[in-house]
Amino acid sequence: MTSFELRRKFLNFFKQKGHKIVPSSSLIPEDESVLLTTAGMQQFVPELSCKVKPRYKRVCSVQKCFRTSDIDQVGDDTHHTFFEMLGNWSFGDYFKPEAIKWALEFLTQECGLDKKRLWITVFKGNKEIPKDKESIEVWEKQGIPRERIFEFGMEHNFWGPTAEVGPCGPCSEIHYDRGKEFRRGRCSIKGCGPNCECGRFVEIWNLVFMEYDKKIKNQKSKIKNYEYVPLPQKNIDTGIGLERLTAVLQNKPSAYETDLFSPLIQEIEKNSSKPYNLNHKSYRIIADHVRGAVFLIADGVLPSNIDRGYILRRILRRAMRSARVLNLPSTASQRKQPSKQELQKSRKVVGELAGNWYVDVIKKIIEIYGQVYPEIKTKETDIITVIQNEEEKFSRALAKGLRYFDRVERFLSKSKVSKQRKVIPGDIVFNLYQSYGFPLEMTRELAEERGFRIDEQGFKNELKKHQEISRAGVQKKFGGVGIEQAKTEEEKIKMTRLHTATHLLHQALREVLGEKIKQMGSDINPERLRFDFSYHRKLSPEELKKVEDIVNQKIKEDLSVTMEKMPLEEAIKSGALAFFKEKYPEIVKVYSIGDFSREICAGPHVKSTGELGIFKIIKEQSSGAGVRRIRAILKEENPKSK
Ligand code: SER
Repeated sequence: MTSFELRRKFLNFFKQKGHKIVPSSSLIPEDESVLLTTAGMQQFVPELSCKVKPRYKRVCSVQKCFRTSDIDQVGDDTHHTFFEMLGNWSFGDYFKPEAIKWALEFLTQECGLDKKRLWITVFKGNKEIPKDKESIEVWEKQGIPRERIFEFGMEHNFWGPTAEVGPCGPCSEIHYDRGKEFRRGRCSIKGCGPNCECGRFVEIWNLVFMEYDKKIKNQKSKIKNYEYVPLPQKNIDTGIGLERLTAVLQNKPSAYETDLFSPLIQEIEKNSSKPYNLNHKSYRIIADHVRGAVFLIADGVLPSNIDRGYILRRILRRAMRSARVLNLPSTASQRKQPSKQELQKSRKVVGELAGNWYVDVIKKIIEIYGQVYPEIKTKETDIITVIQNEEEKFSRALAKGLRYFDRVERFLSKSKVSKQRKVIPGDIVFNLYQSYGFPLEMTRELAEERGFRIDEQGFKNELKKHQEISRAGVQKKFGGVGIEQAKTEEEKIKMTRLHTATHLLHQALREVLGEKIKQMGSDINPERLRFDFSYHRKLSPEELKKVEDIVNQKIKEDLSVTMEKMPLEEAIKSGALAFFKEKYPEIVKVYSIGDFSREICAGPHVKSTGELGIFKIIKEQSSGAGVRRIRAILKEENPKSK
């Protein structure tokens, strides 16, 4: 089945079940609390929150979506930035029995999937929200045996809200068993099954039972707590990733081999001397990122250093780097920089840009998607111009790096050590990589063009050294190395308190900025803690205050800190935060602070948070591209012991 047929079949199927077909909304959501549209339900948040009277009780759509959490993983078989979501909704109309029955009917009868290969997950319940027994009963009634119904917690089987507060609920997912031959990696779940990371199972449909409104409890309190309040009516929100289901239906290992991407890959291949089968990653980054950029620009996003603009800039520059790896033709990437007049002239005449790699890629994307999303057709000239301007800016940044490269070359050519003359040392290759954003492959090629080789082993050693330095920072936190180095007992106590405060800070940051922030490093001395994490912009004073308040609230609650030992796999499954996975032993310690935080860590920690005193952030600053650094202190000495 082609992707075009799949979209049509889906909409017609639900139309026949009384749904109104609604067009995709923009990637820029009306709801200001989120940056980009990440799900089909975004345009229906008012209906799902029961804040407006719905015009239609049943709707369905094919929605343009964009998720940023996986940008760095794009290039493998399963991650994308832009994607399309097929979805059906009920606003206070039908509920679980119909949603489940129709999902099965569509997959088996319309798509021809074998029911025996469908596996189900449901919400197992927690302290606040009960187990979803009803779904289990409905699935069984629909002929899915209990052995193929698995129970998971909040991480997998509770969805939303997309913003800090809003509609959400337990969900039930349909996973498809592609068969053992689709295994790419090791099983993350004993005995394999839905949510296993080996690649055999693929999640194809998420049925969300929107029954709750996540709200801030006690608005007047300075400290934020949340509660799940039942919505006045029960709603359905479902979503299928079009790319994934297309890959399953076309029996391809990934969406890149389906009709959604393969014409694009072929187009890139025409212009490259390097074939797809040996350069998957670069091809896929170009295909995914330029596709995403085309849709973002068509919806009015422009490259910049903040918010949506920054996302666009990031994906465009990654695509441009990959284009250079593949030697795709570009006037801007020629090392001789065009003059300003030349640039302005070419900016005005898009036609003159023909032959630049991105023009062909953009045109192909418009050919594949233009019929479904006419806005990209009408904005073709704008899209090409925006990408061209960005390509020129990127080229200038690269030019700086090249000037450094030239200086290095001159120095080495004059060097008396004739044996080493033709080799660029590893530390220089590393500096080009680290400070100028030169990928290793690019430096190698540039060097070869000039008759040099590069010291790859030296580069790898430098890289390893650098990684070890950053890892050492983190291990100080996990392994307690820093704490053991404390000179006096008093220092040791101070560092232990700061260590527990670091865990609180980490979780508070996740609550305020979202769960996608990742720890990038940590350093503790007796005076202060320092915590690095991934985030794209400066934190506002309000955000810093919120983080501080949450930590202080948790200190006030005097939560007990407990430790359990368990296998690494189990720890990760239980939701404990982990870093530098490969370095962990098989059995790890998991430290929990009340119900608030859970991290794999070697300790040591205080017994309860009341021992910490008052937490204060003293500085927030950048620590490299996309990384923020917080320094914080604990102001009072162990108030509990006073
Ligand atoms: N909102 C849910 C999701 O994005 C179902 O559409 O998975």
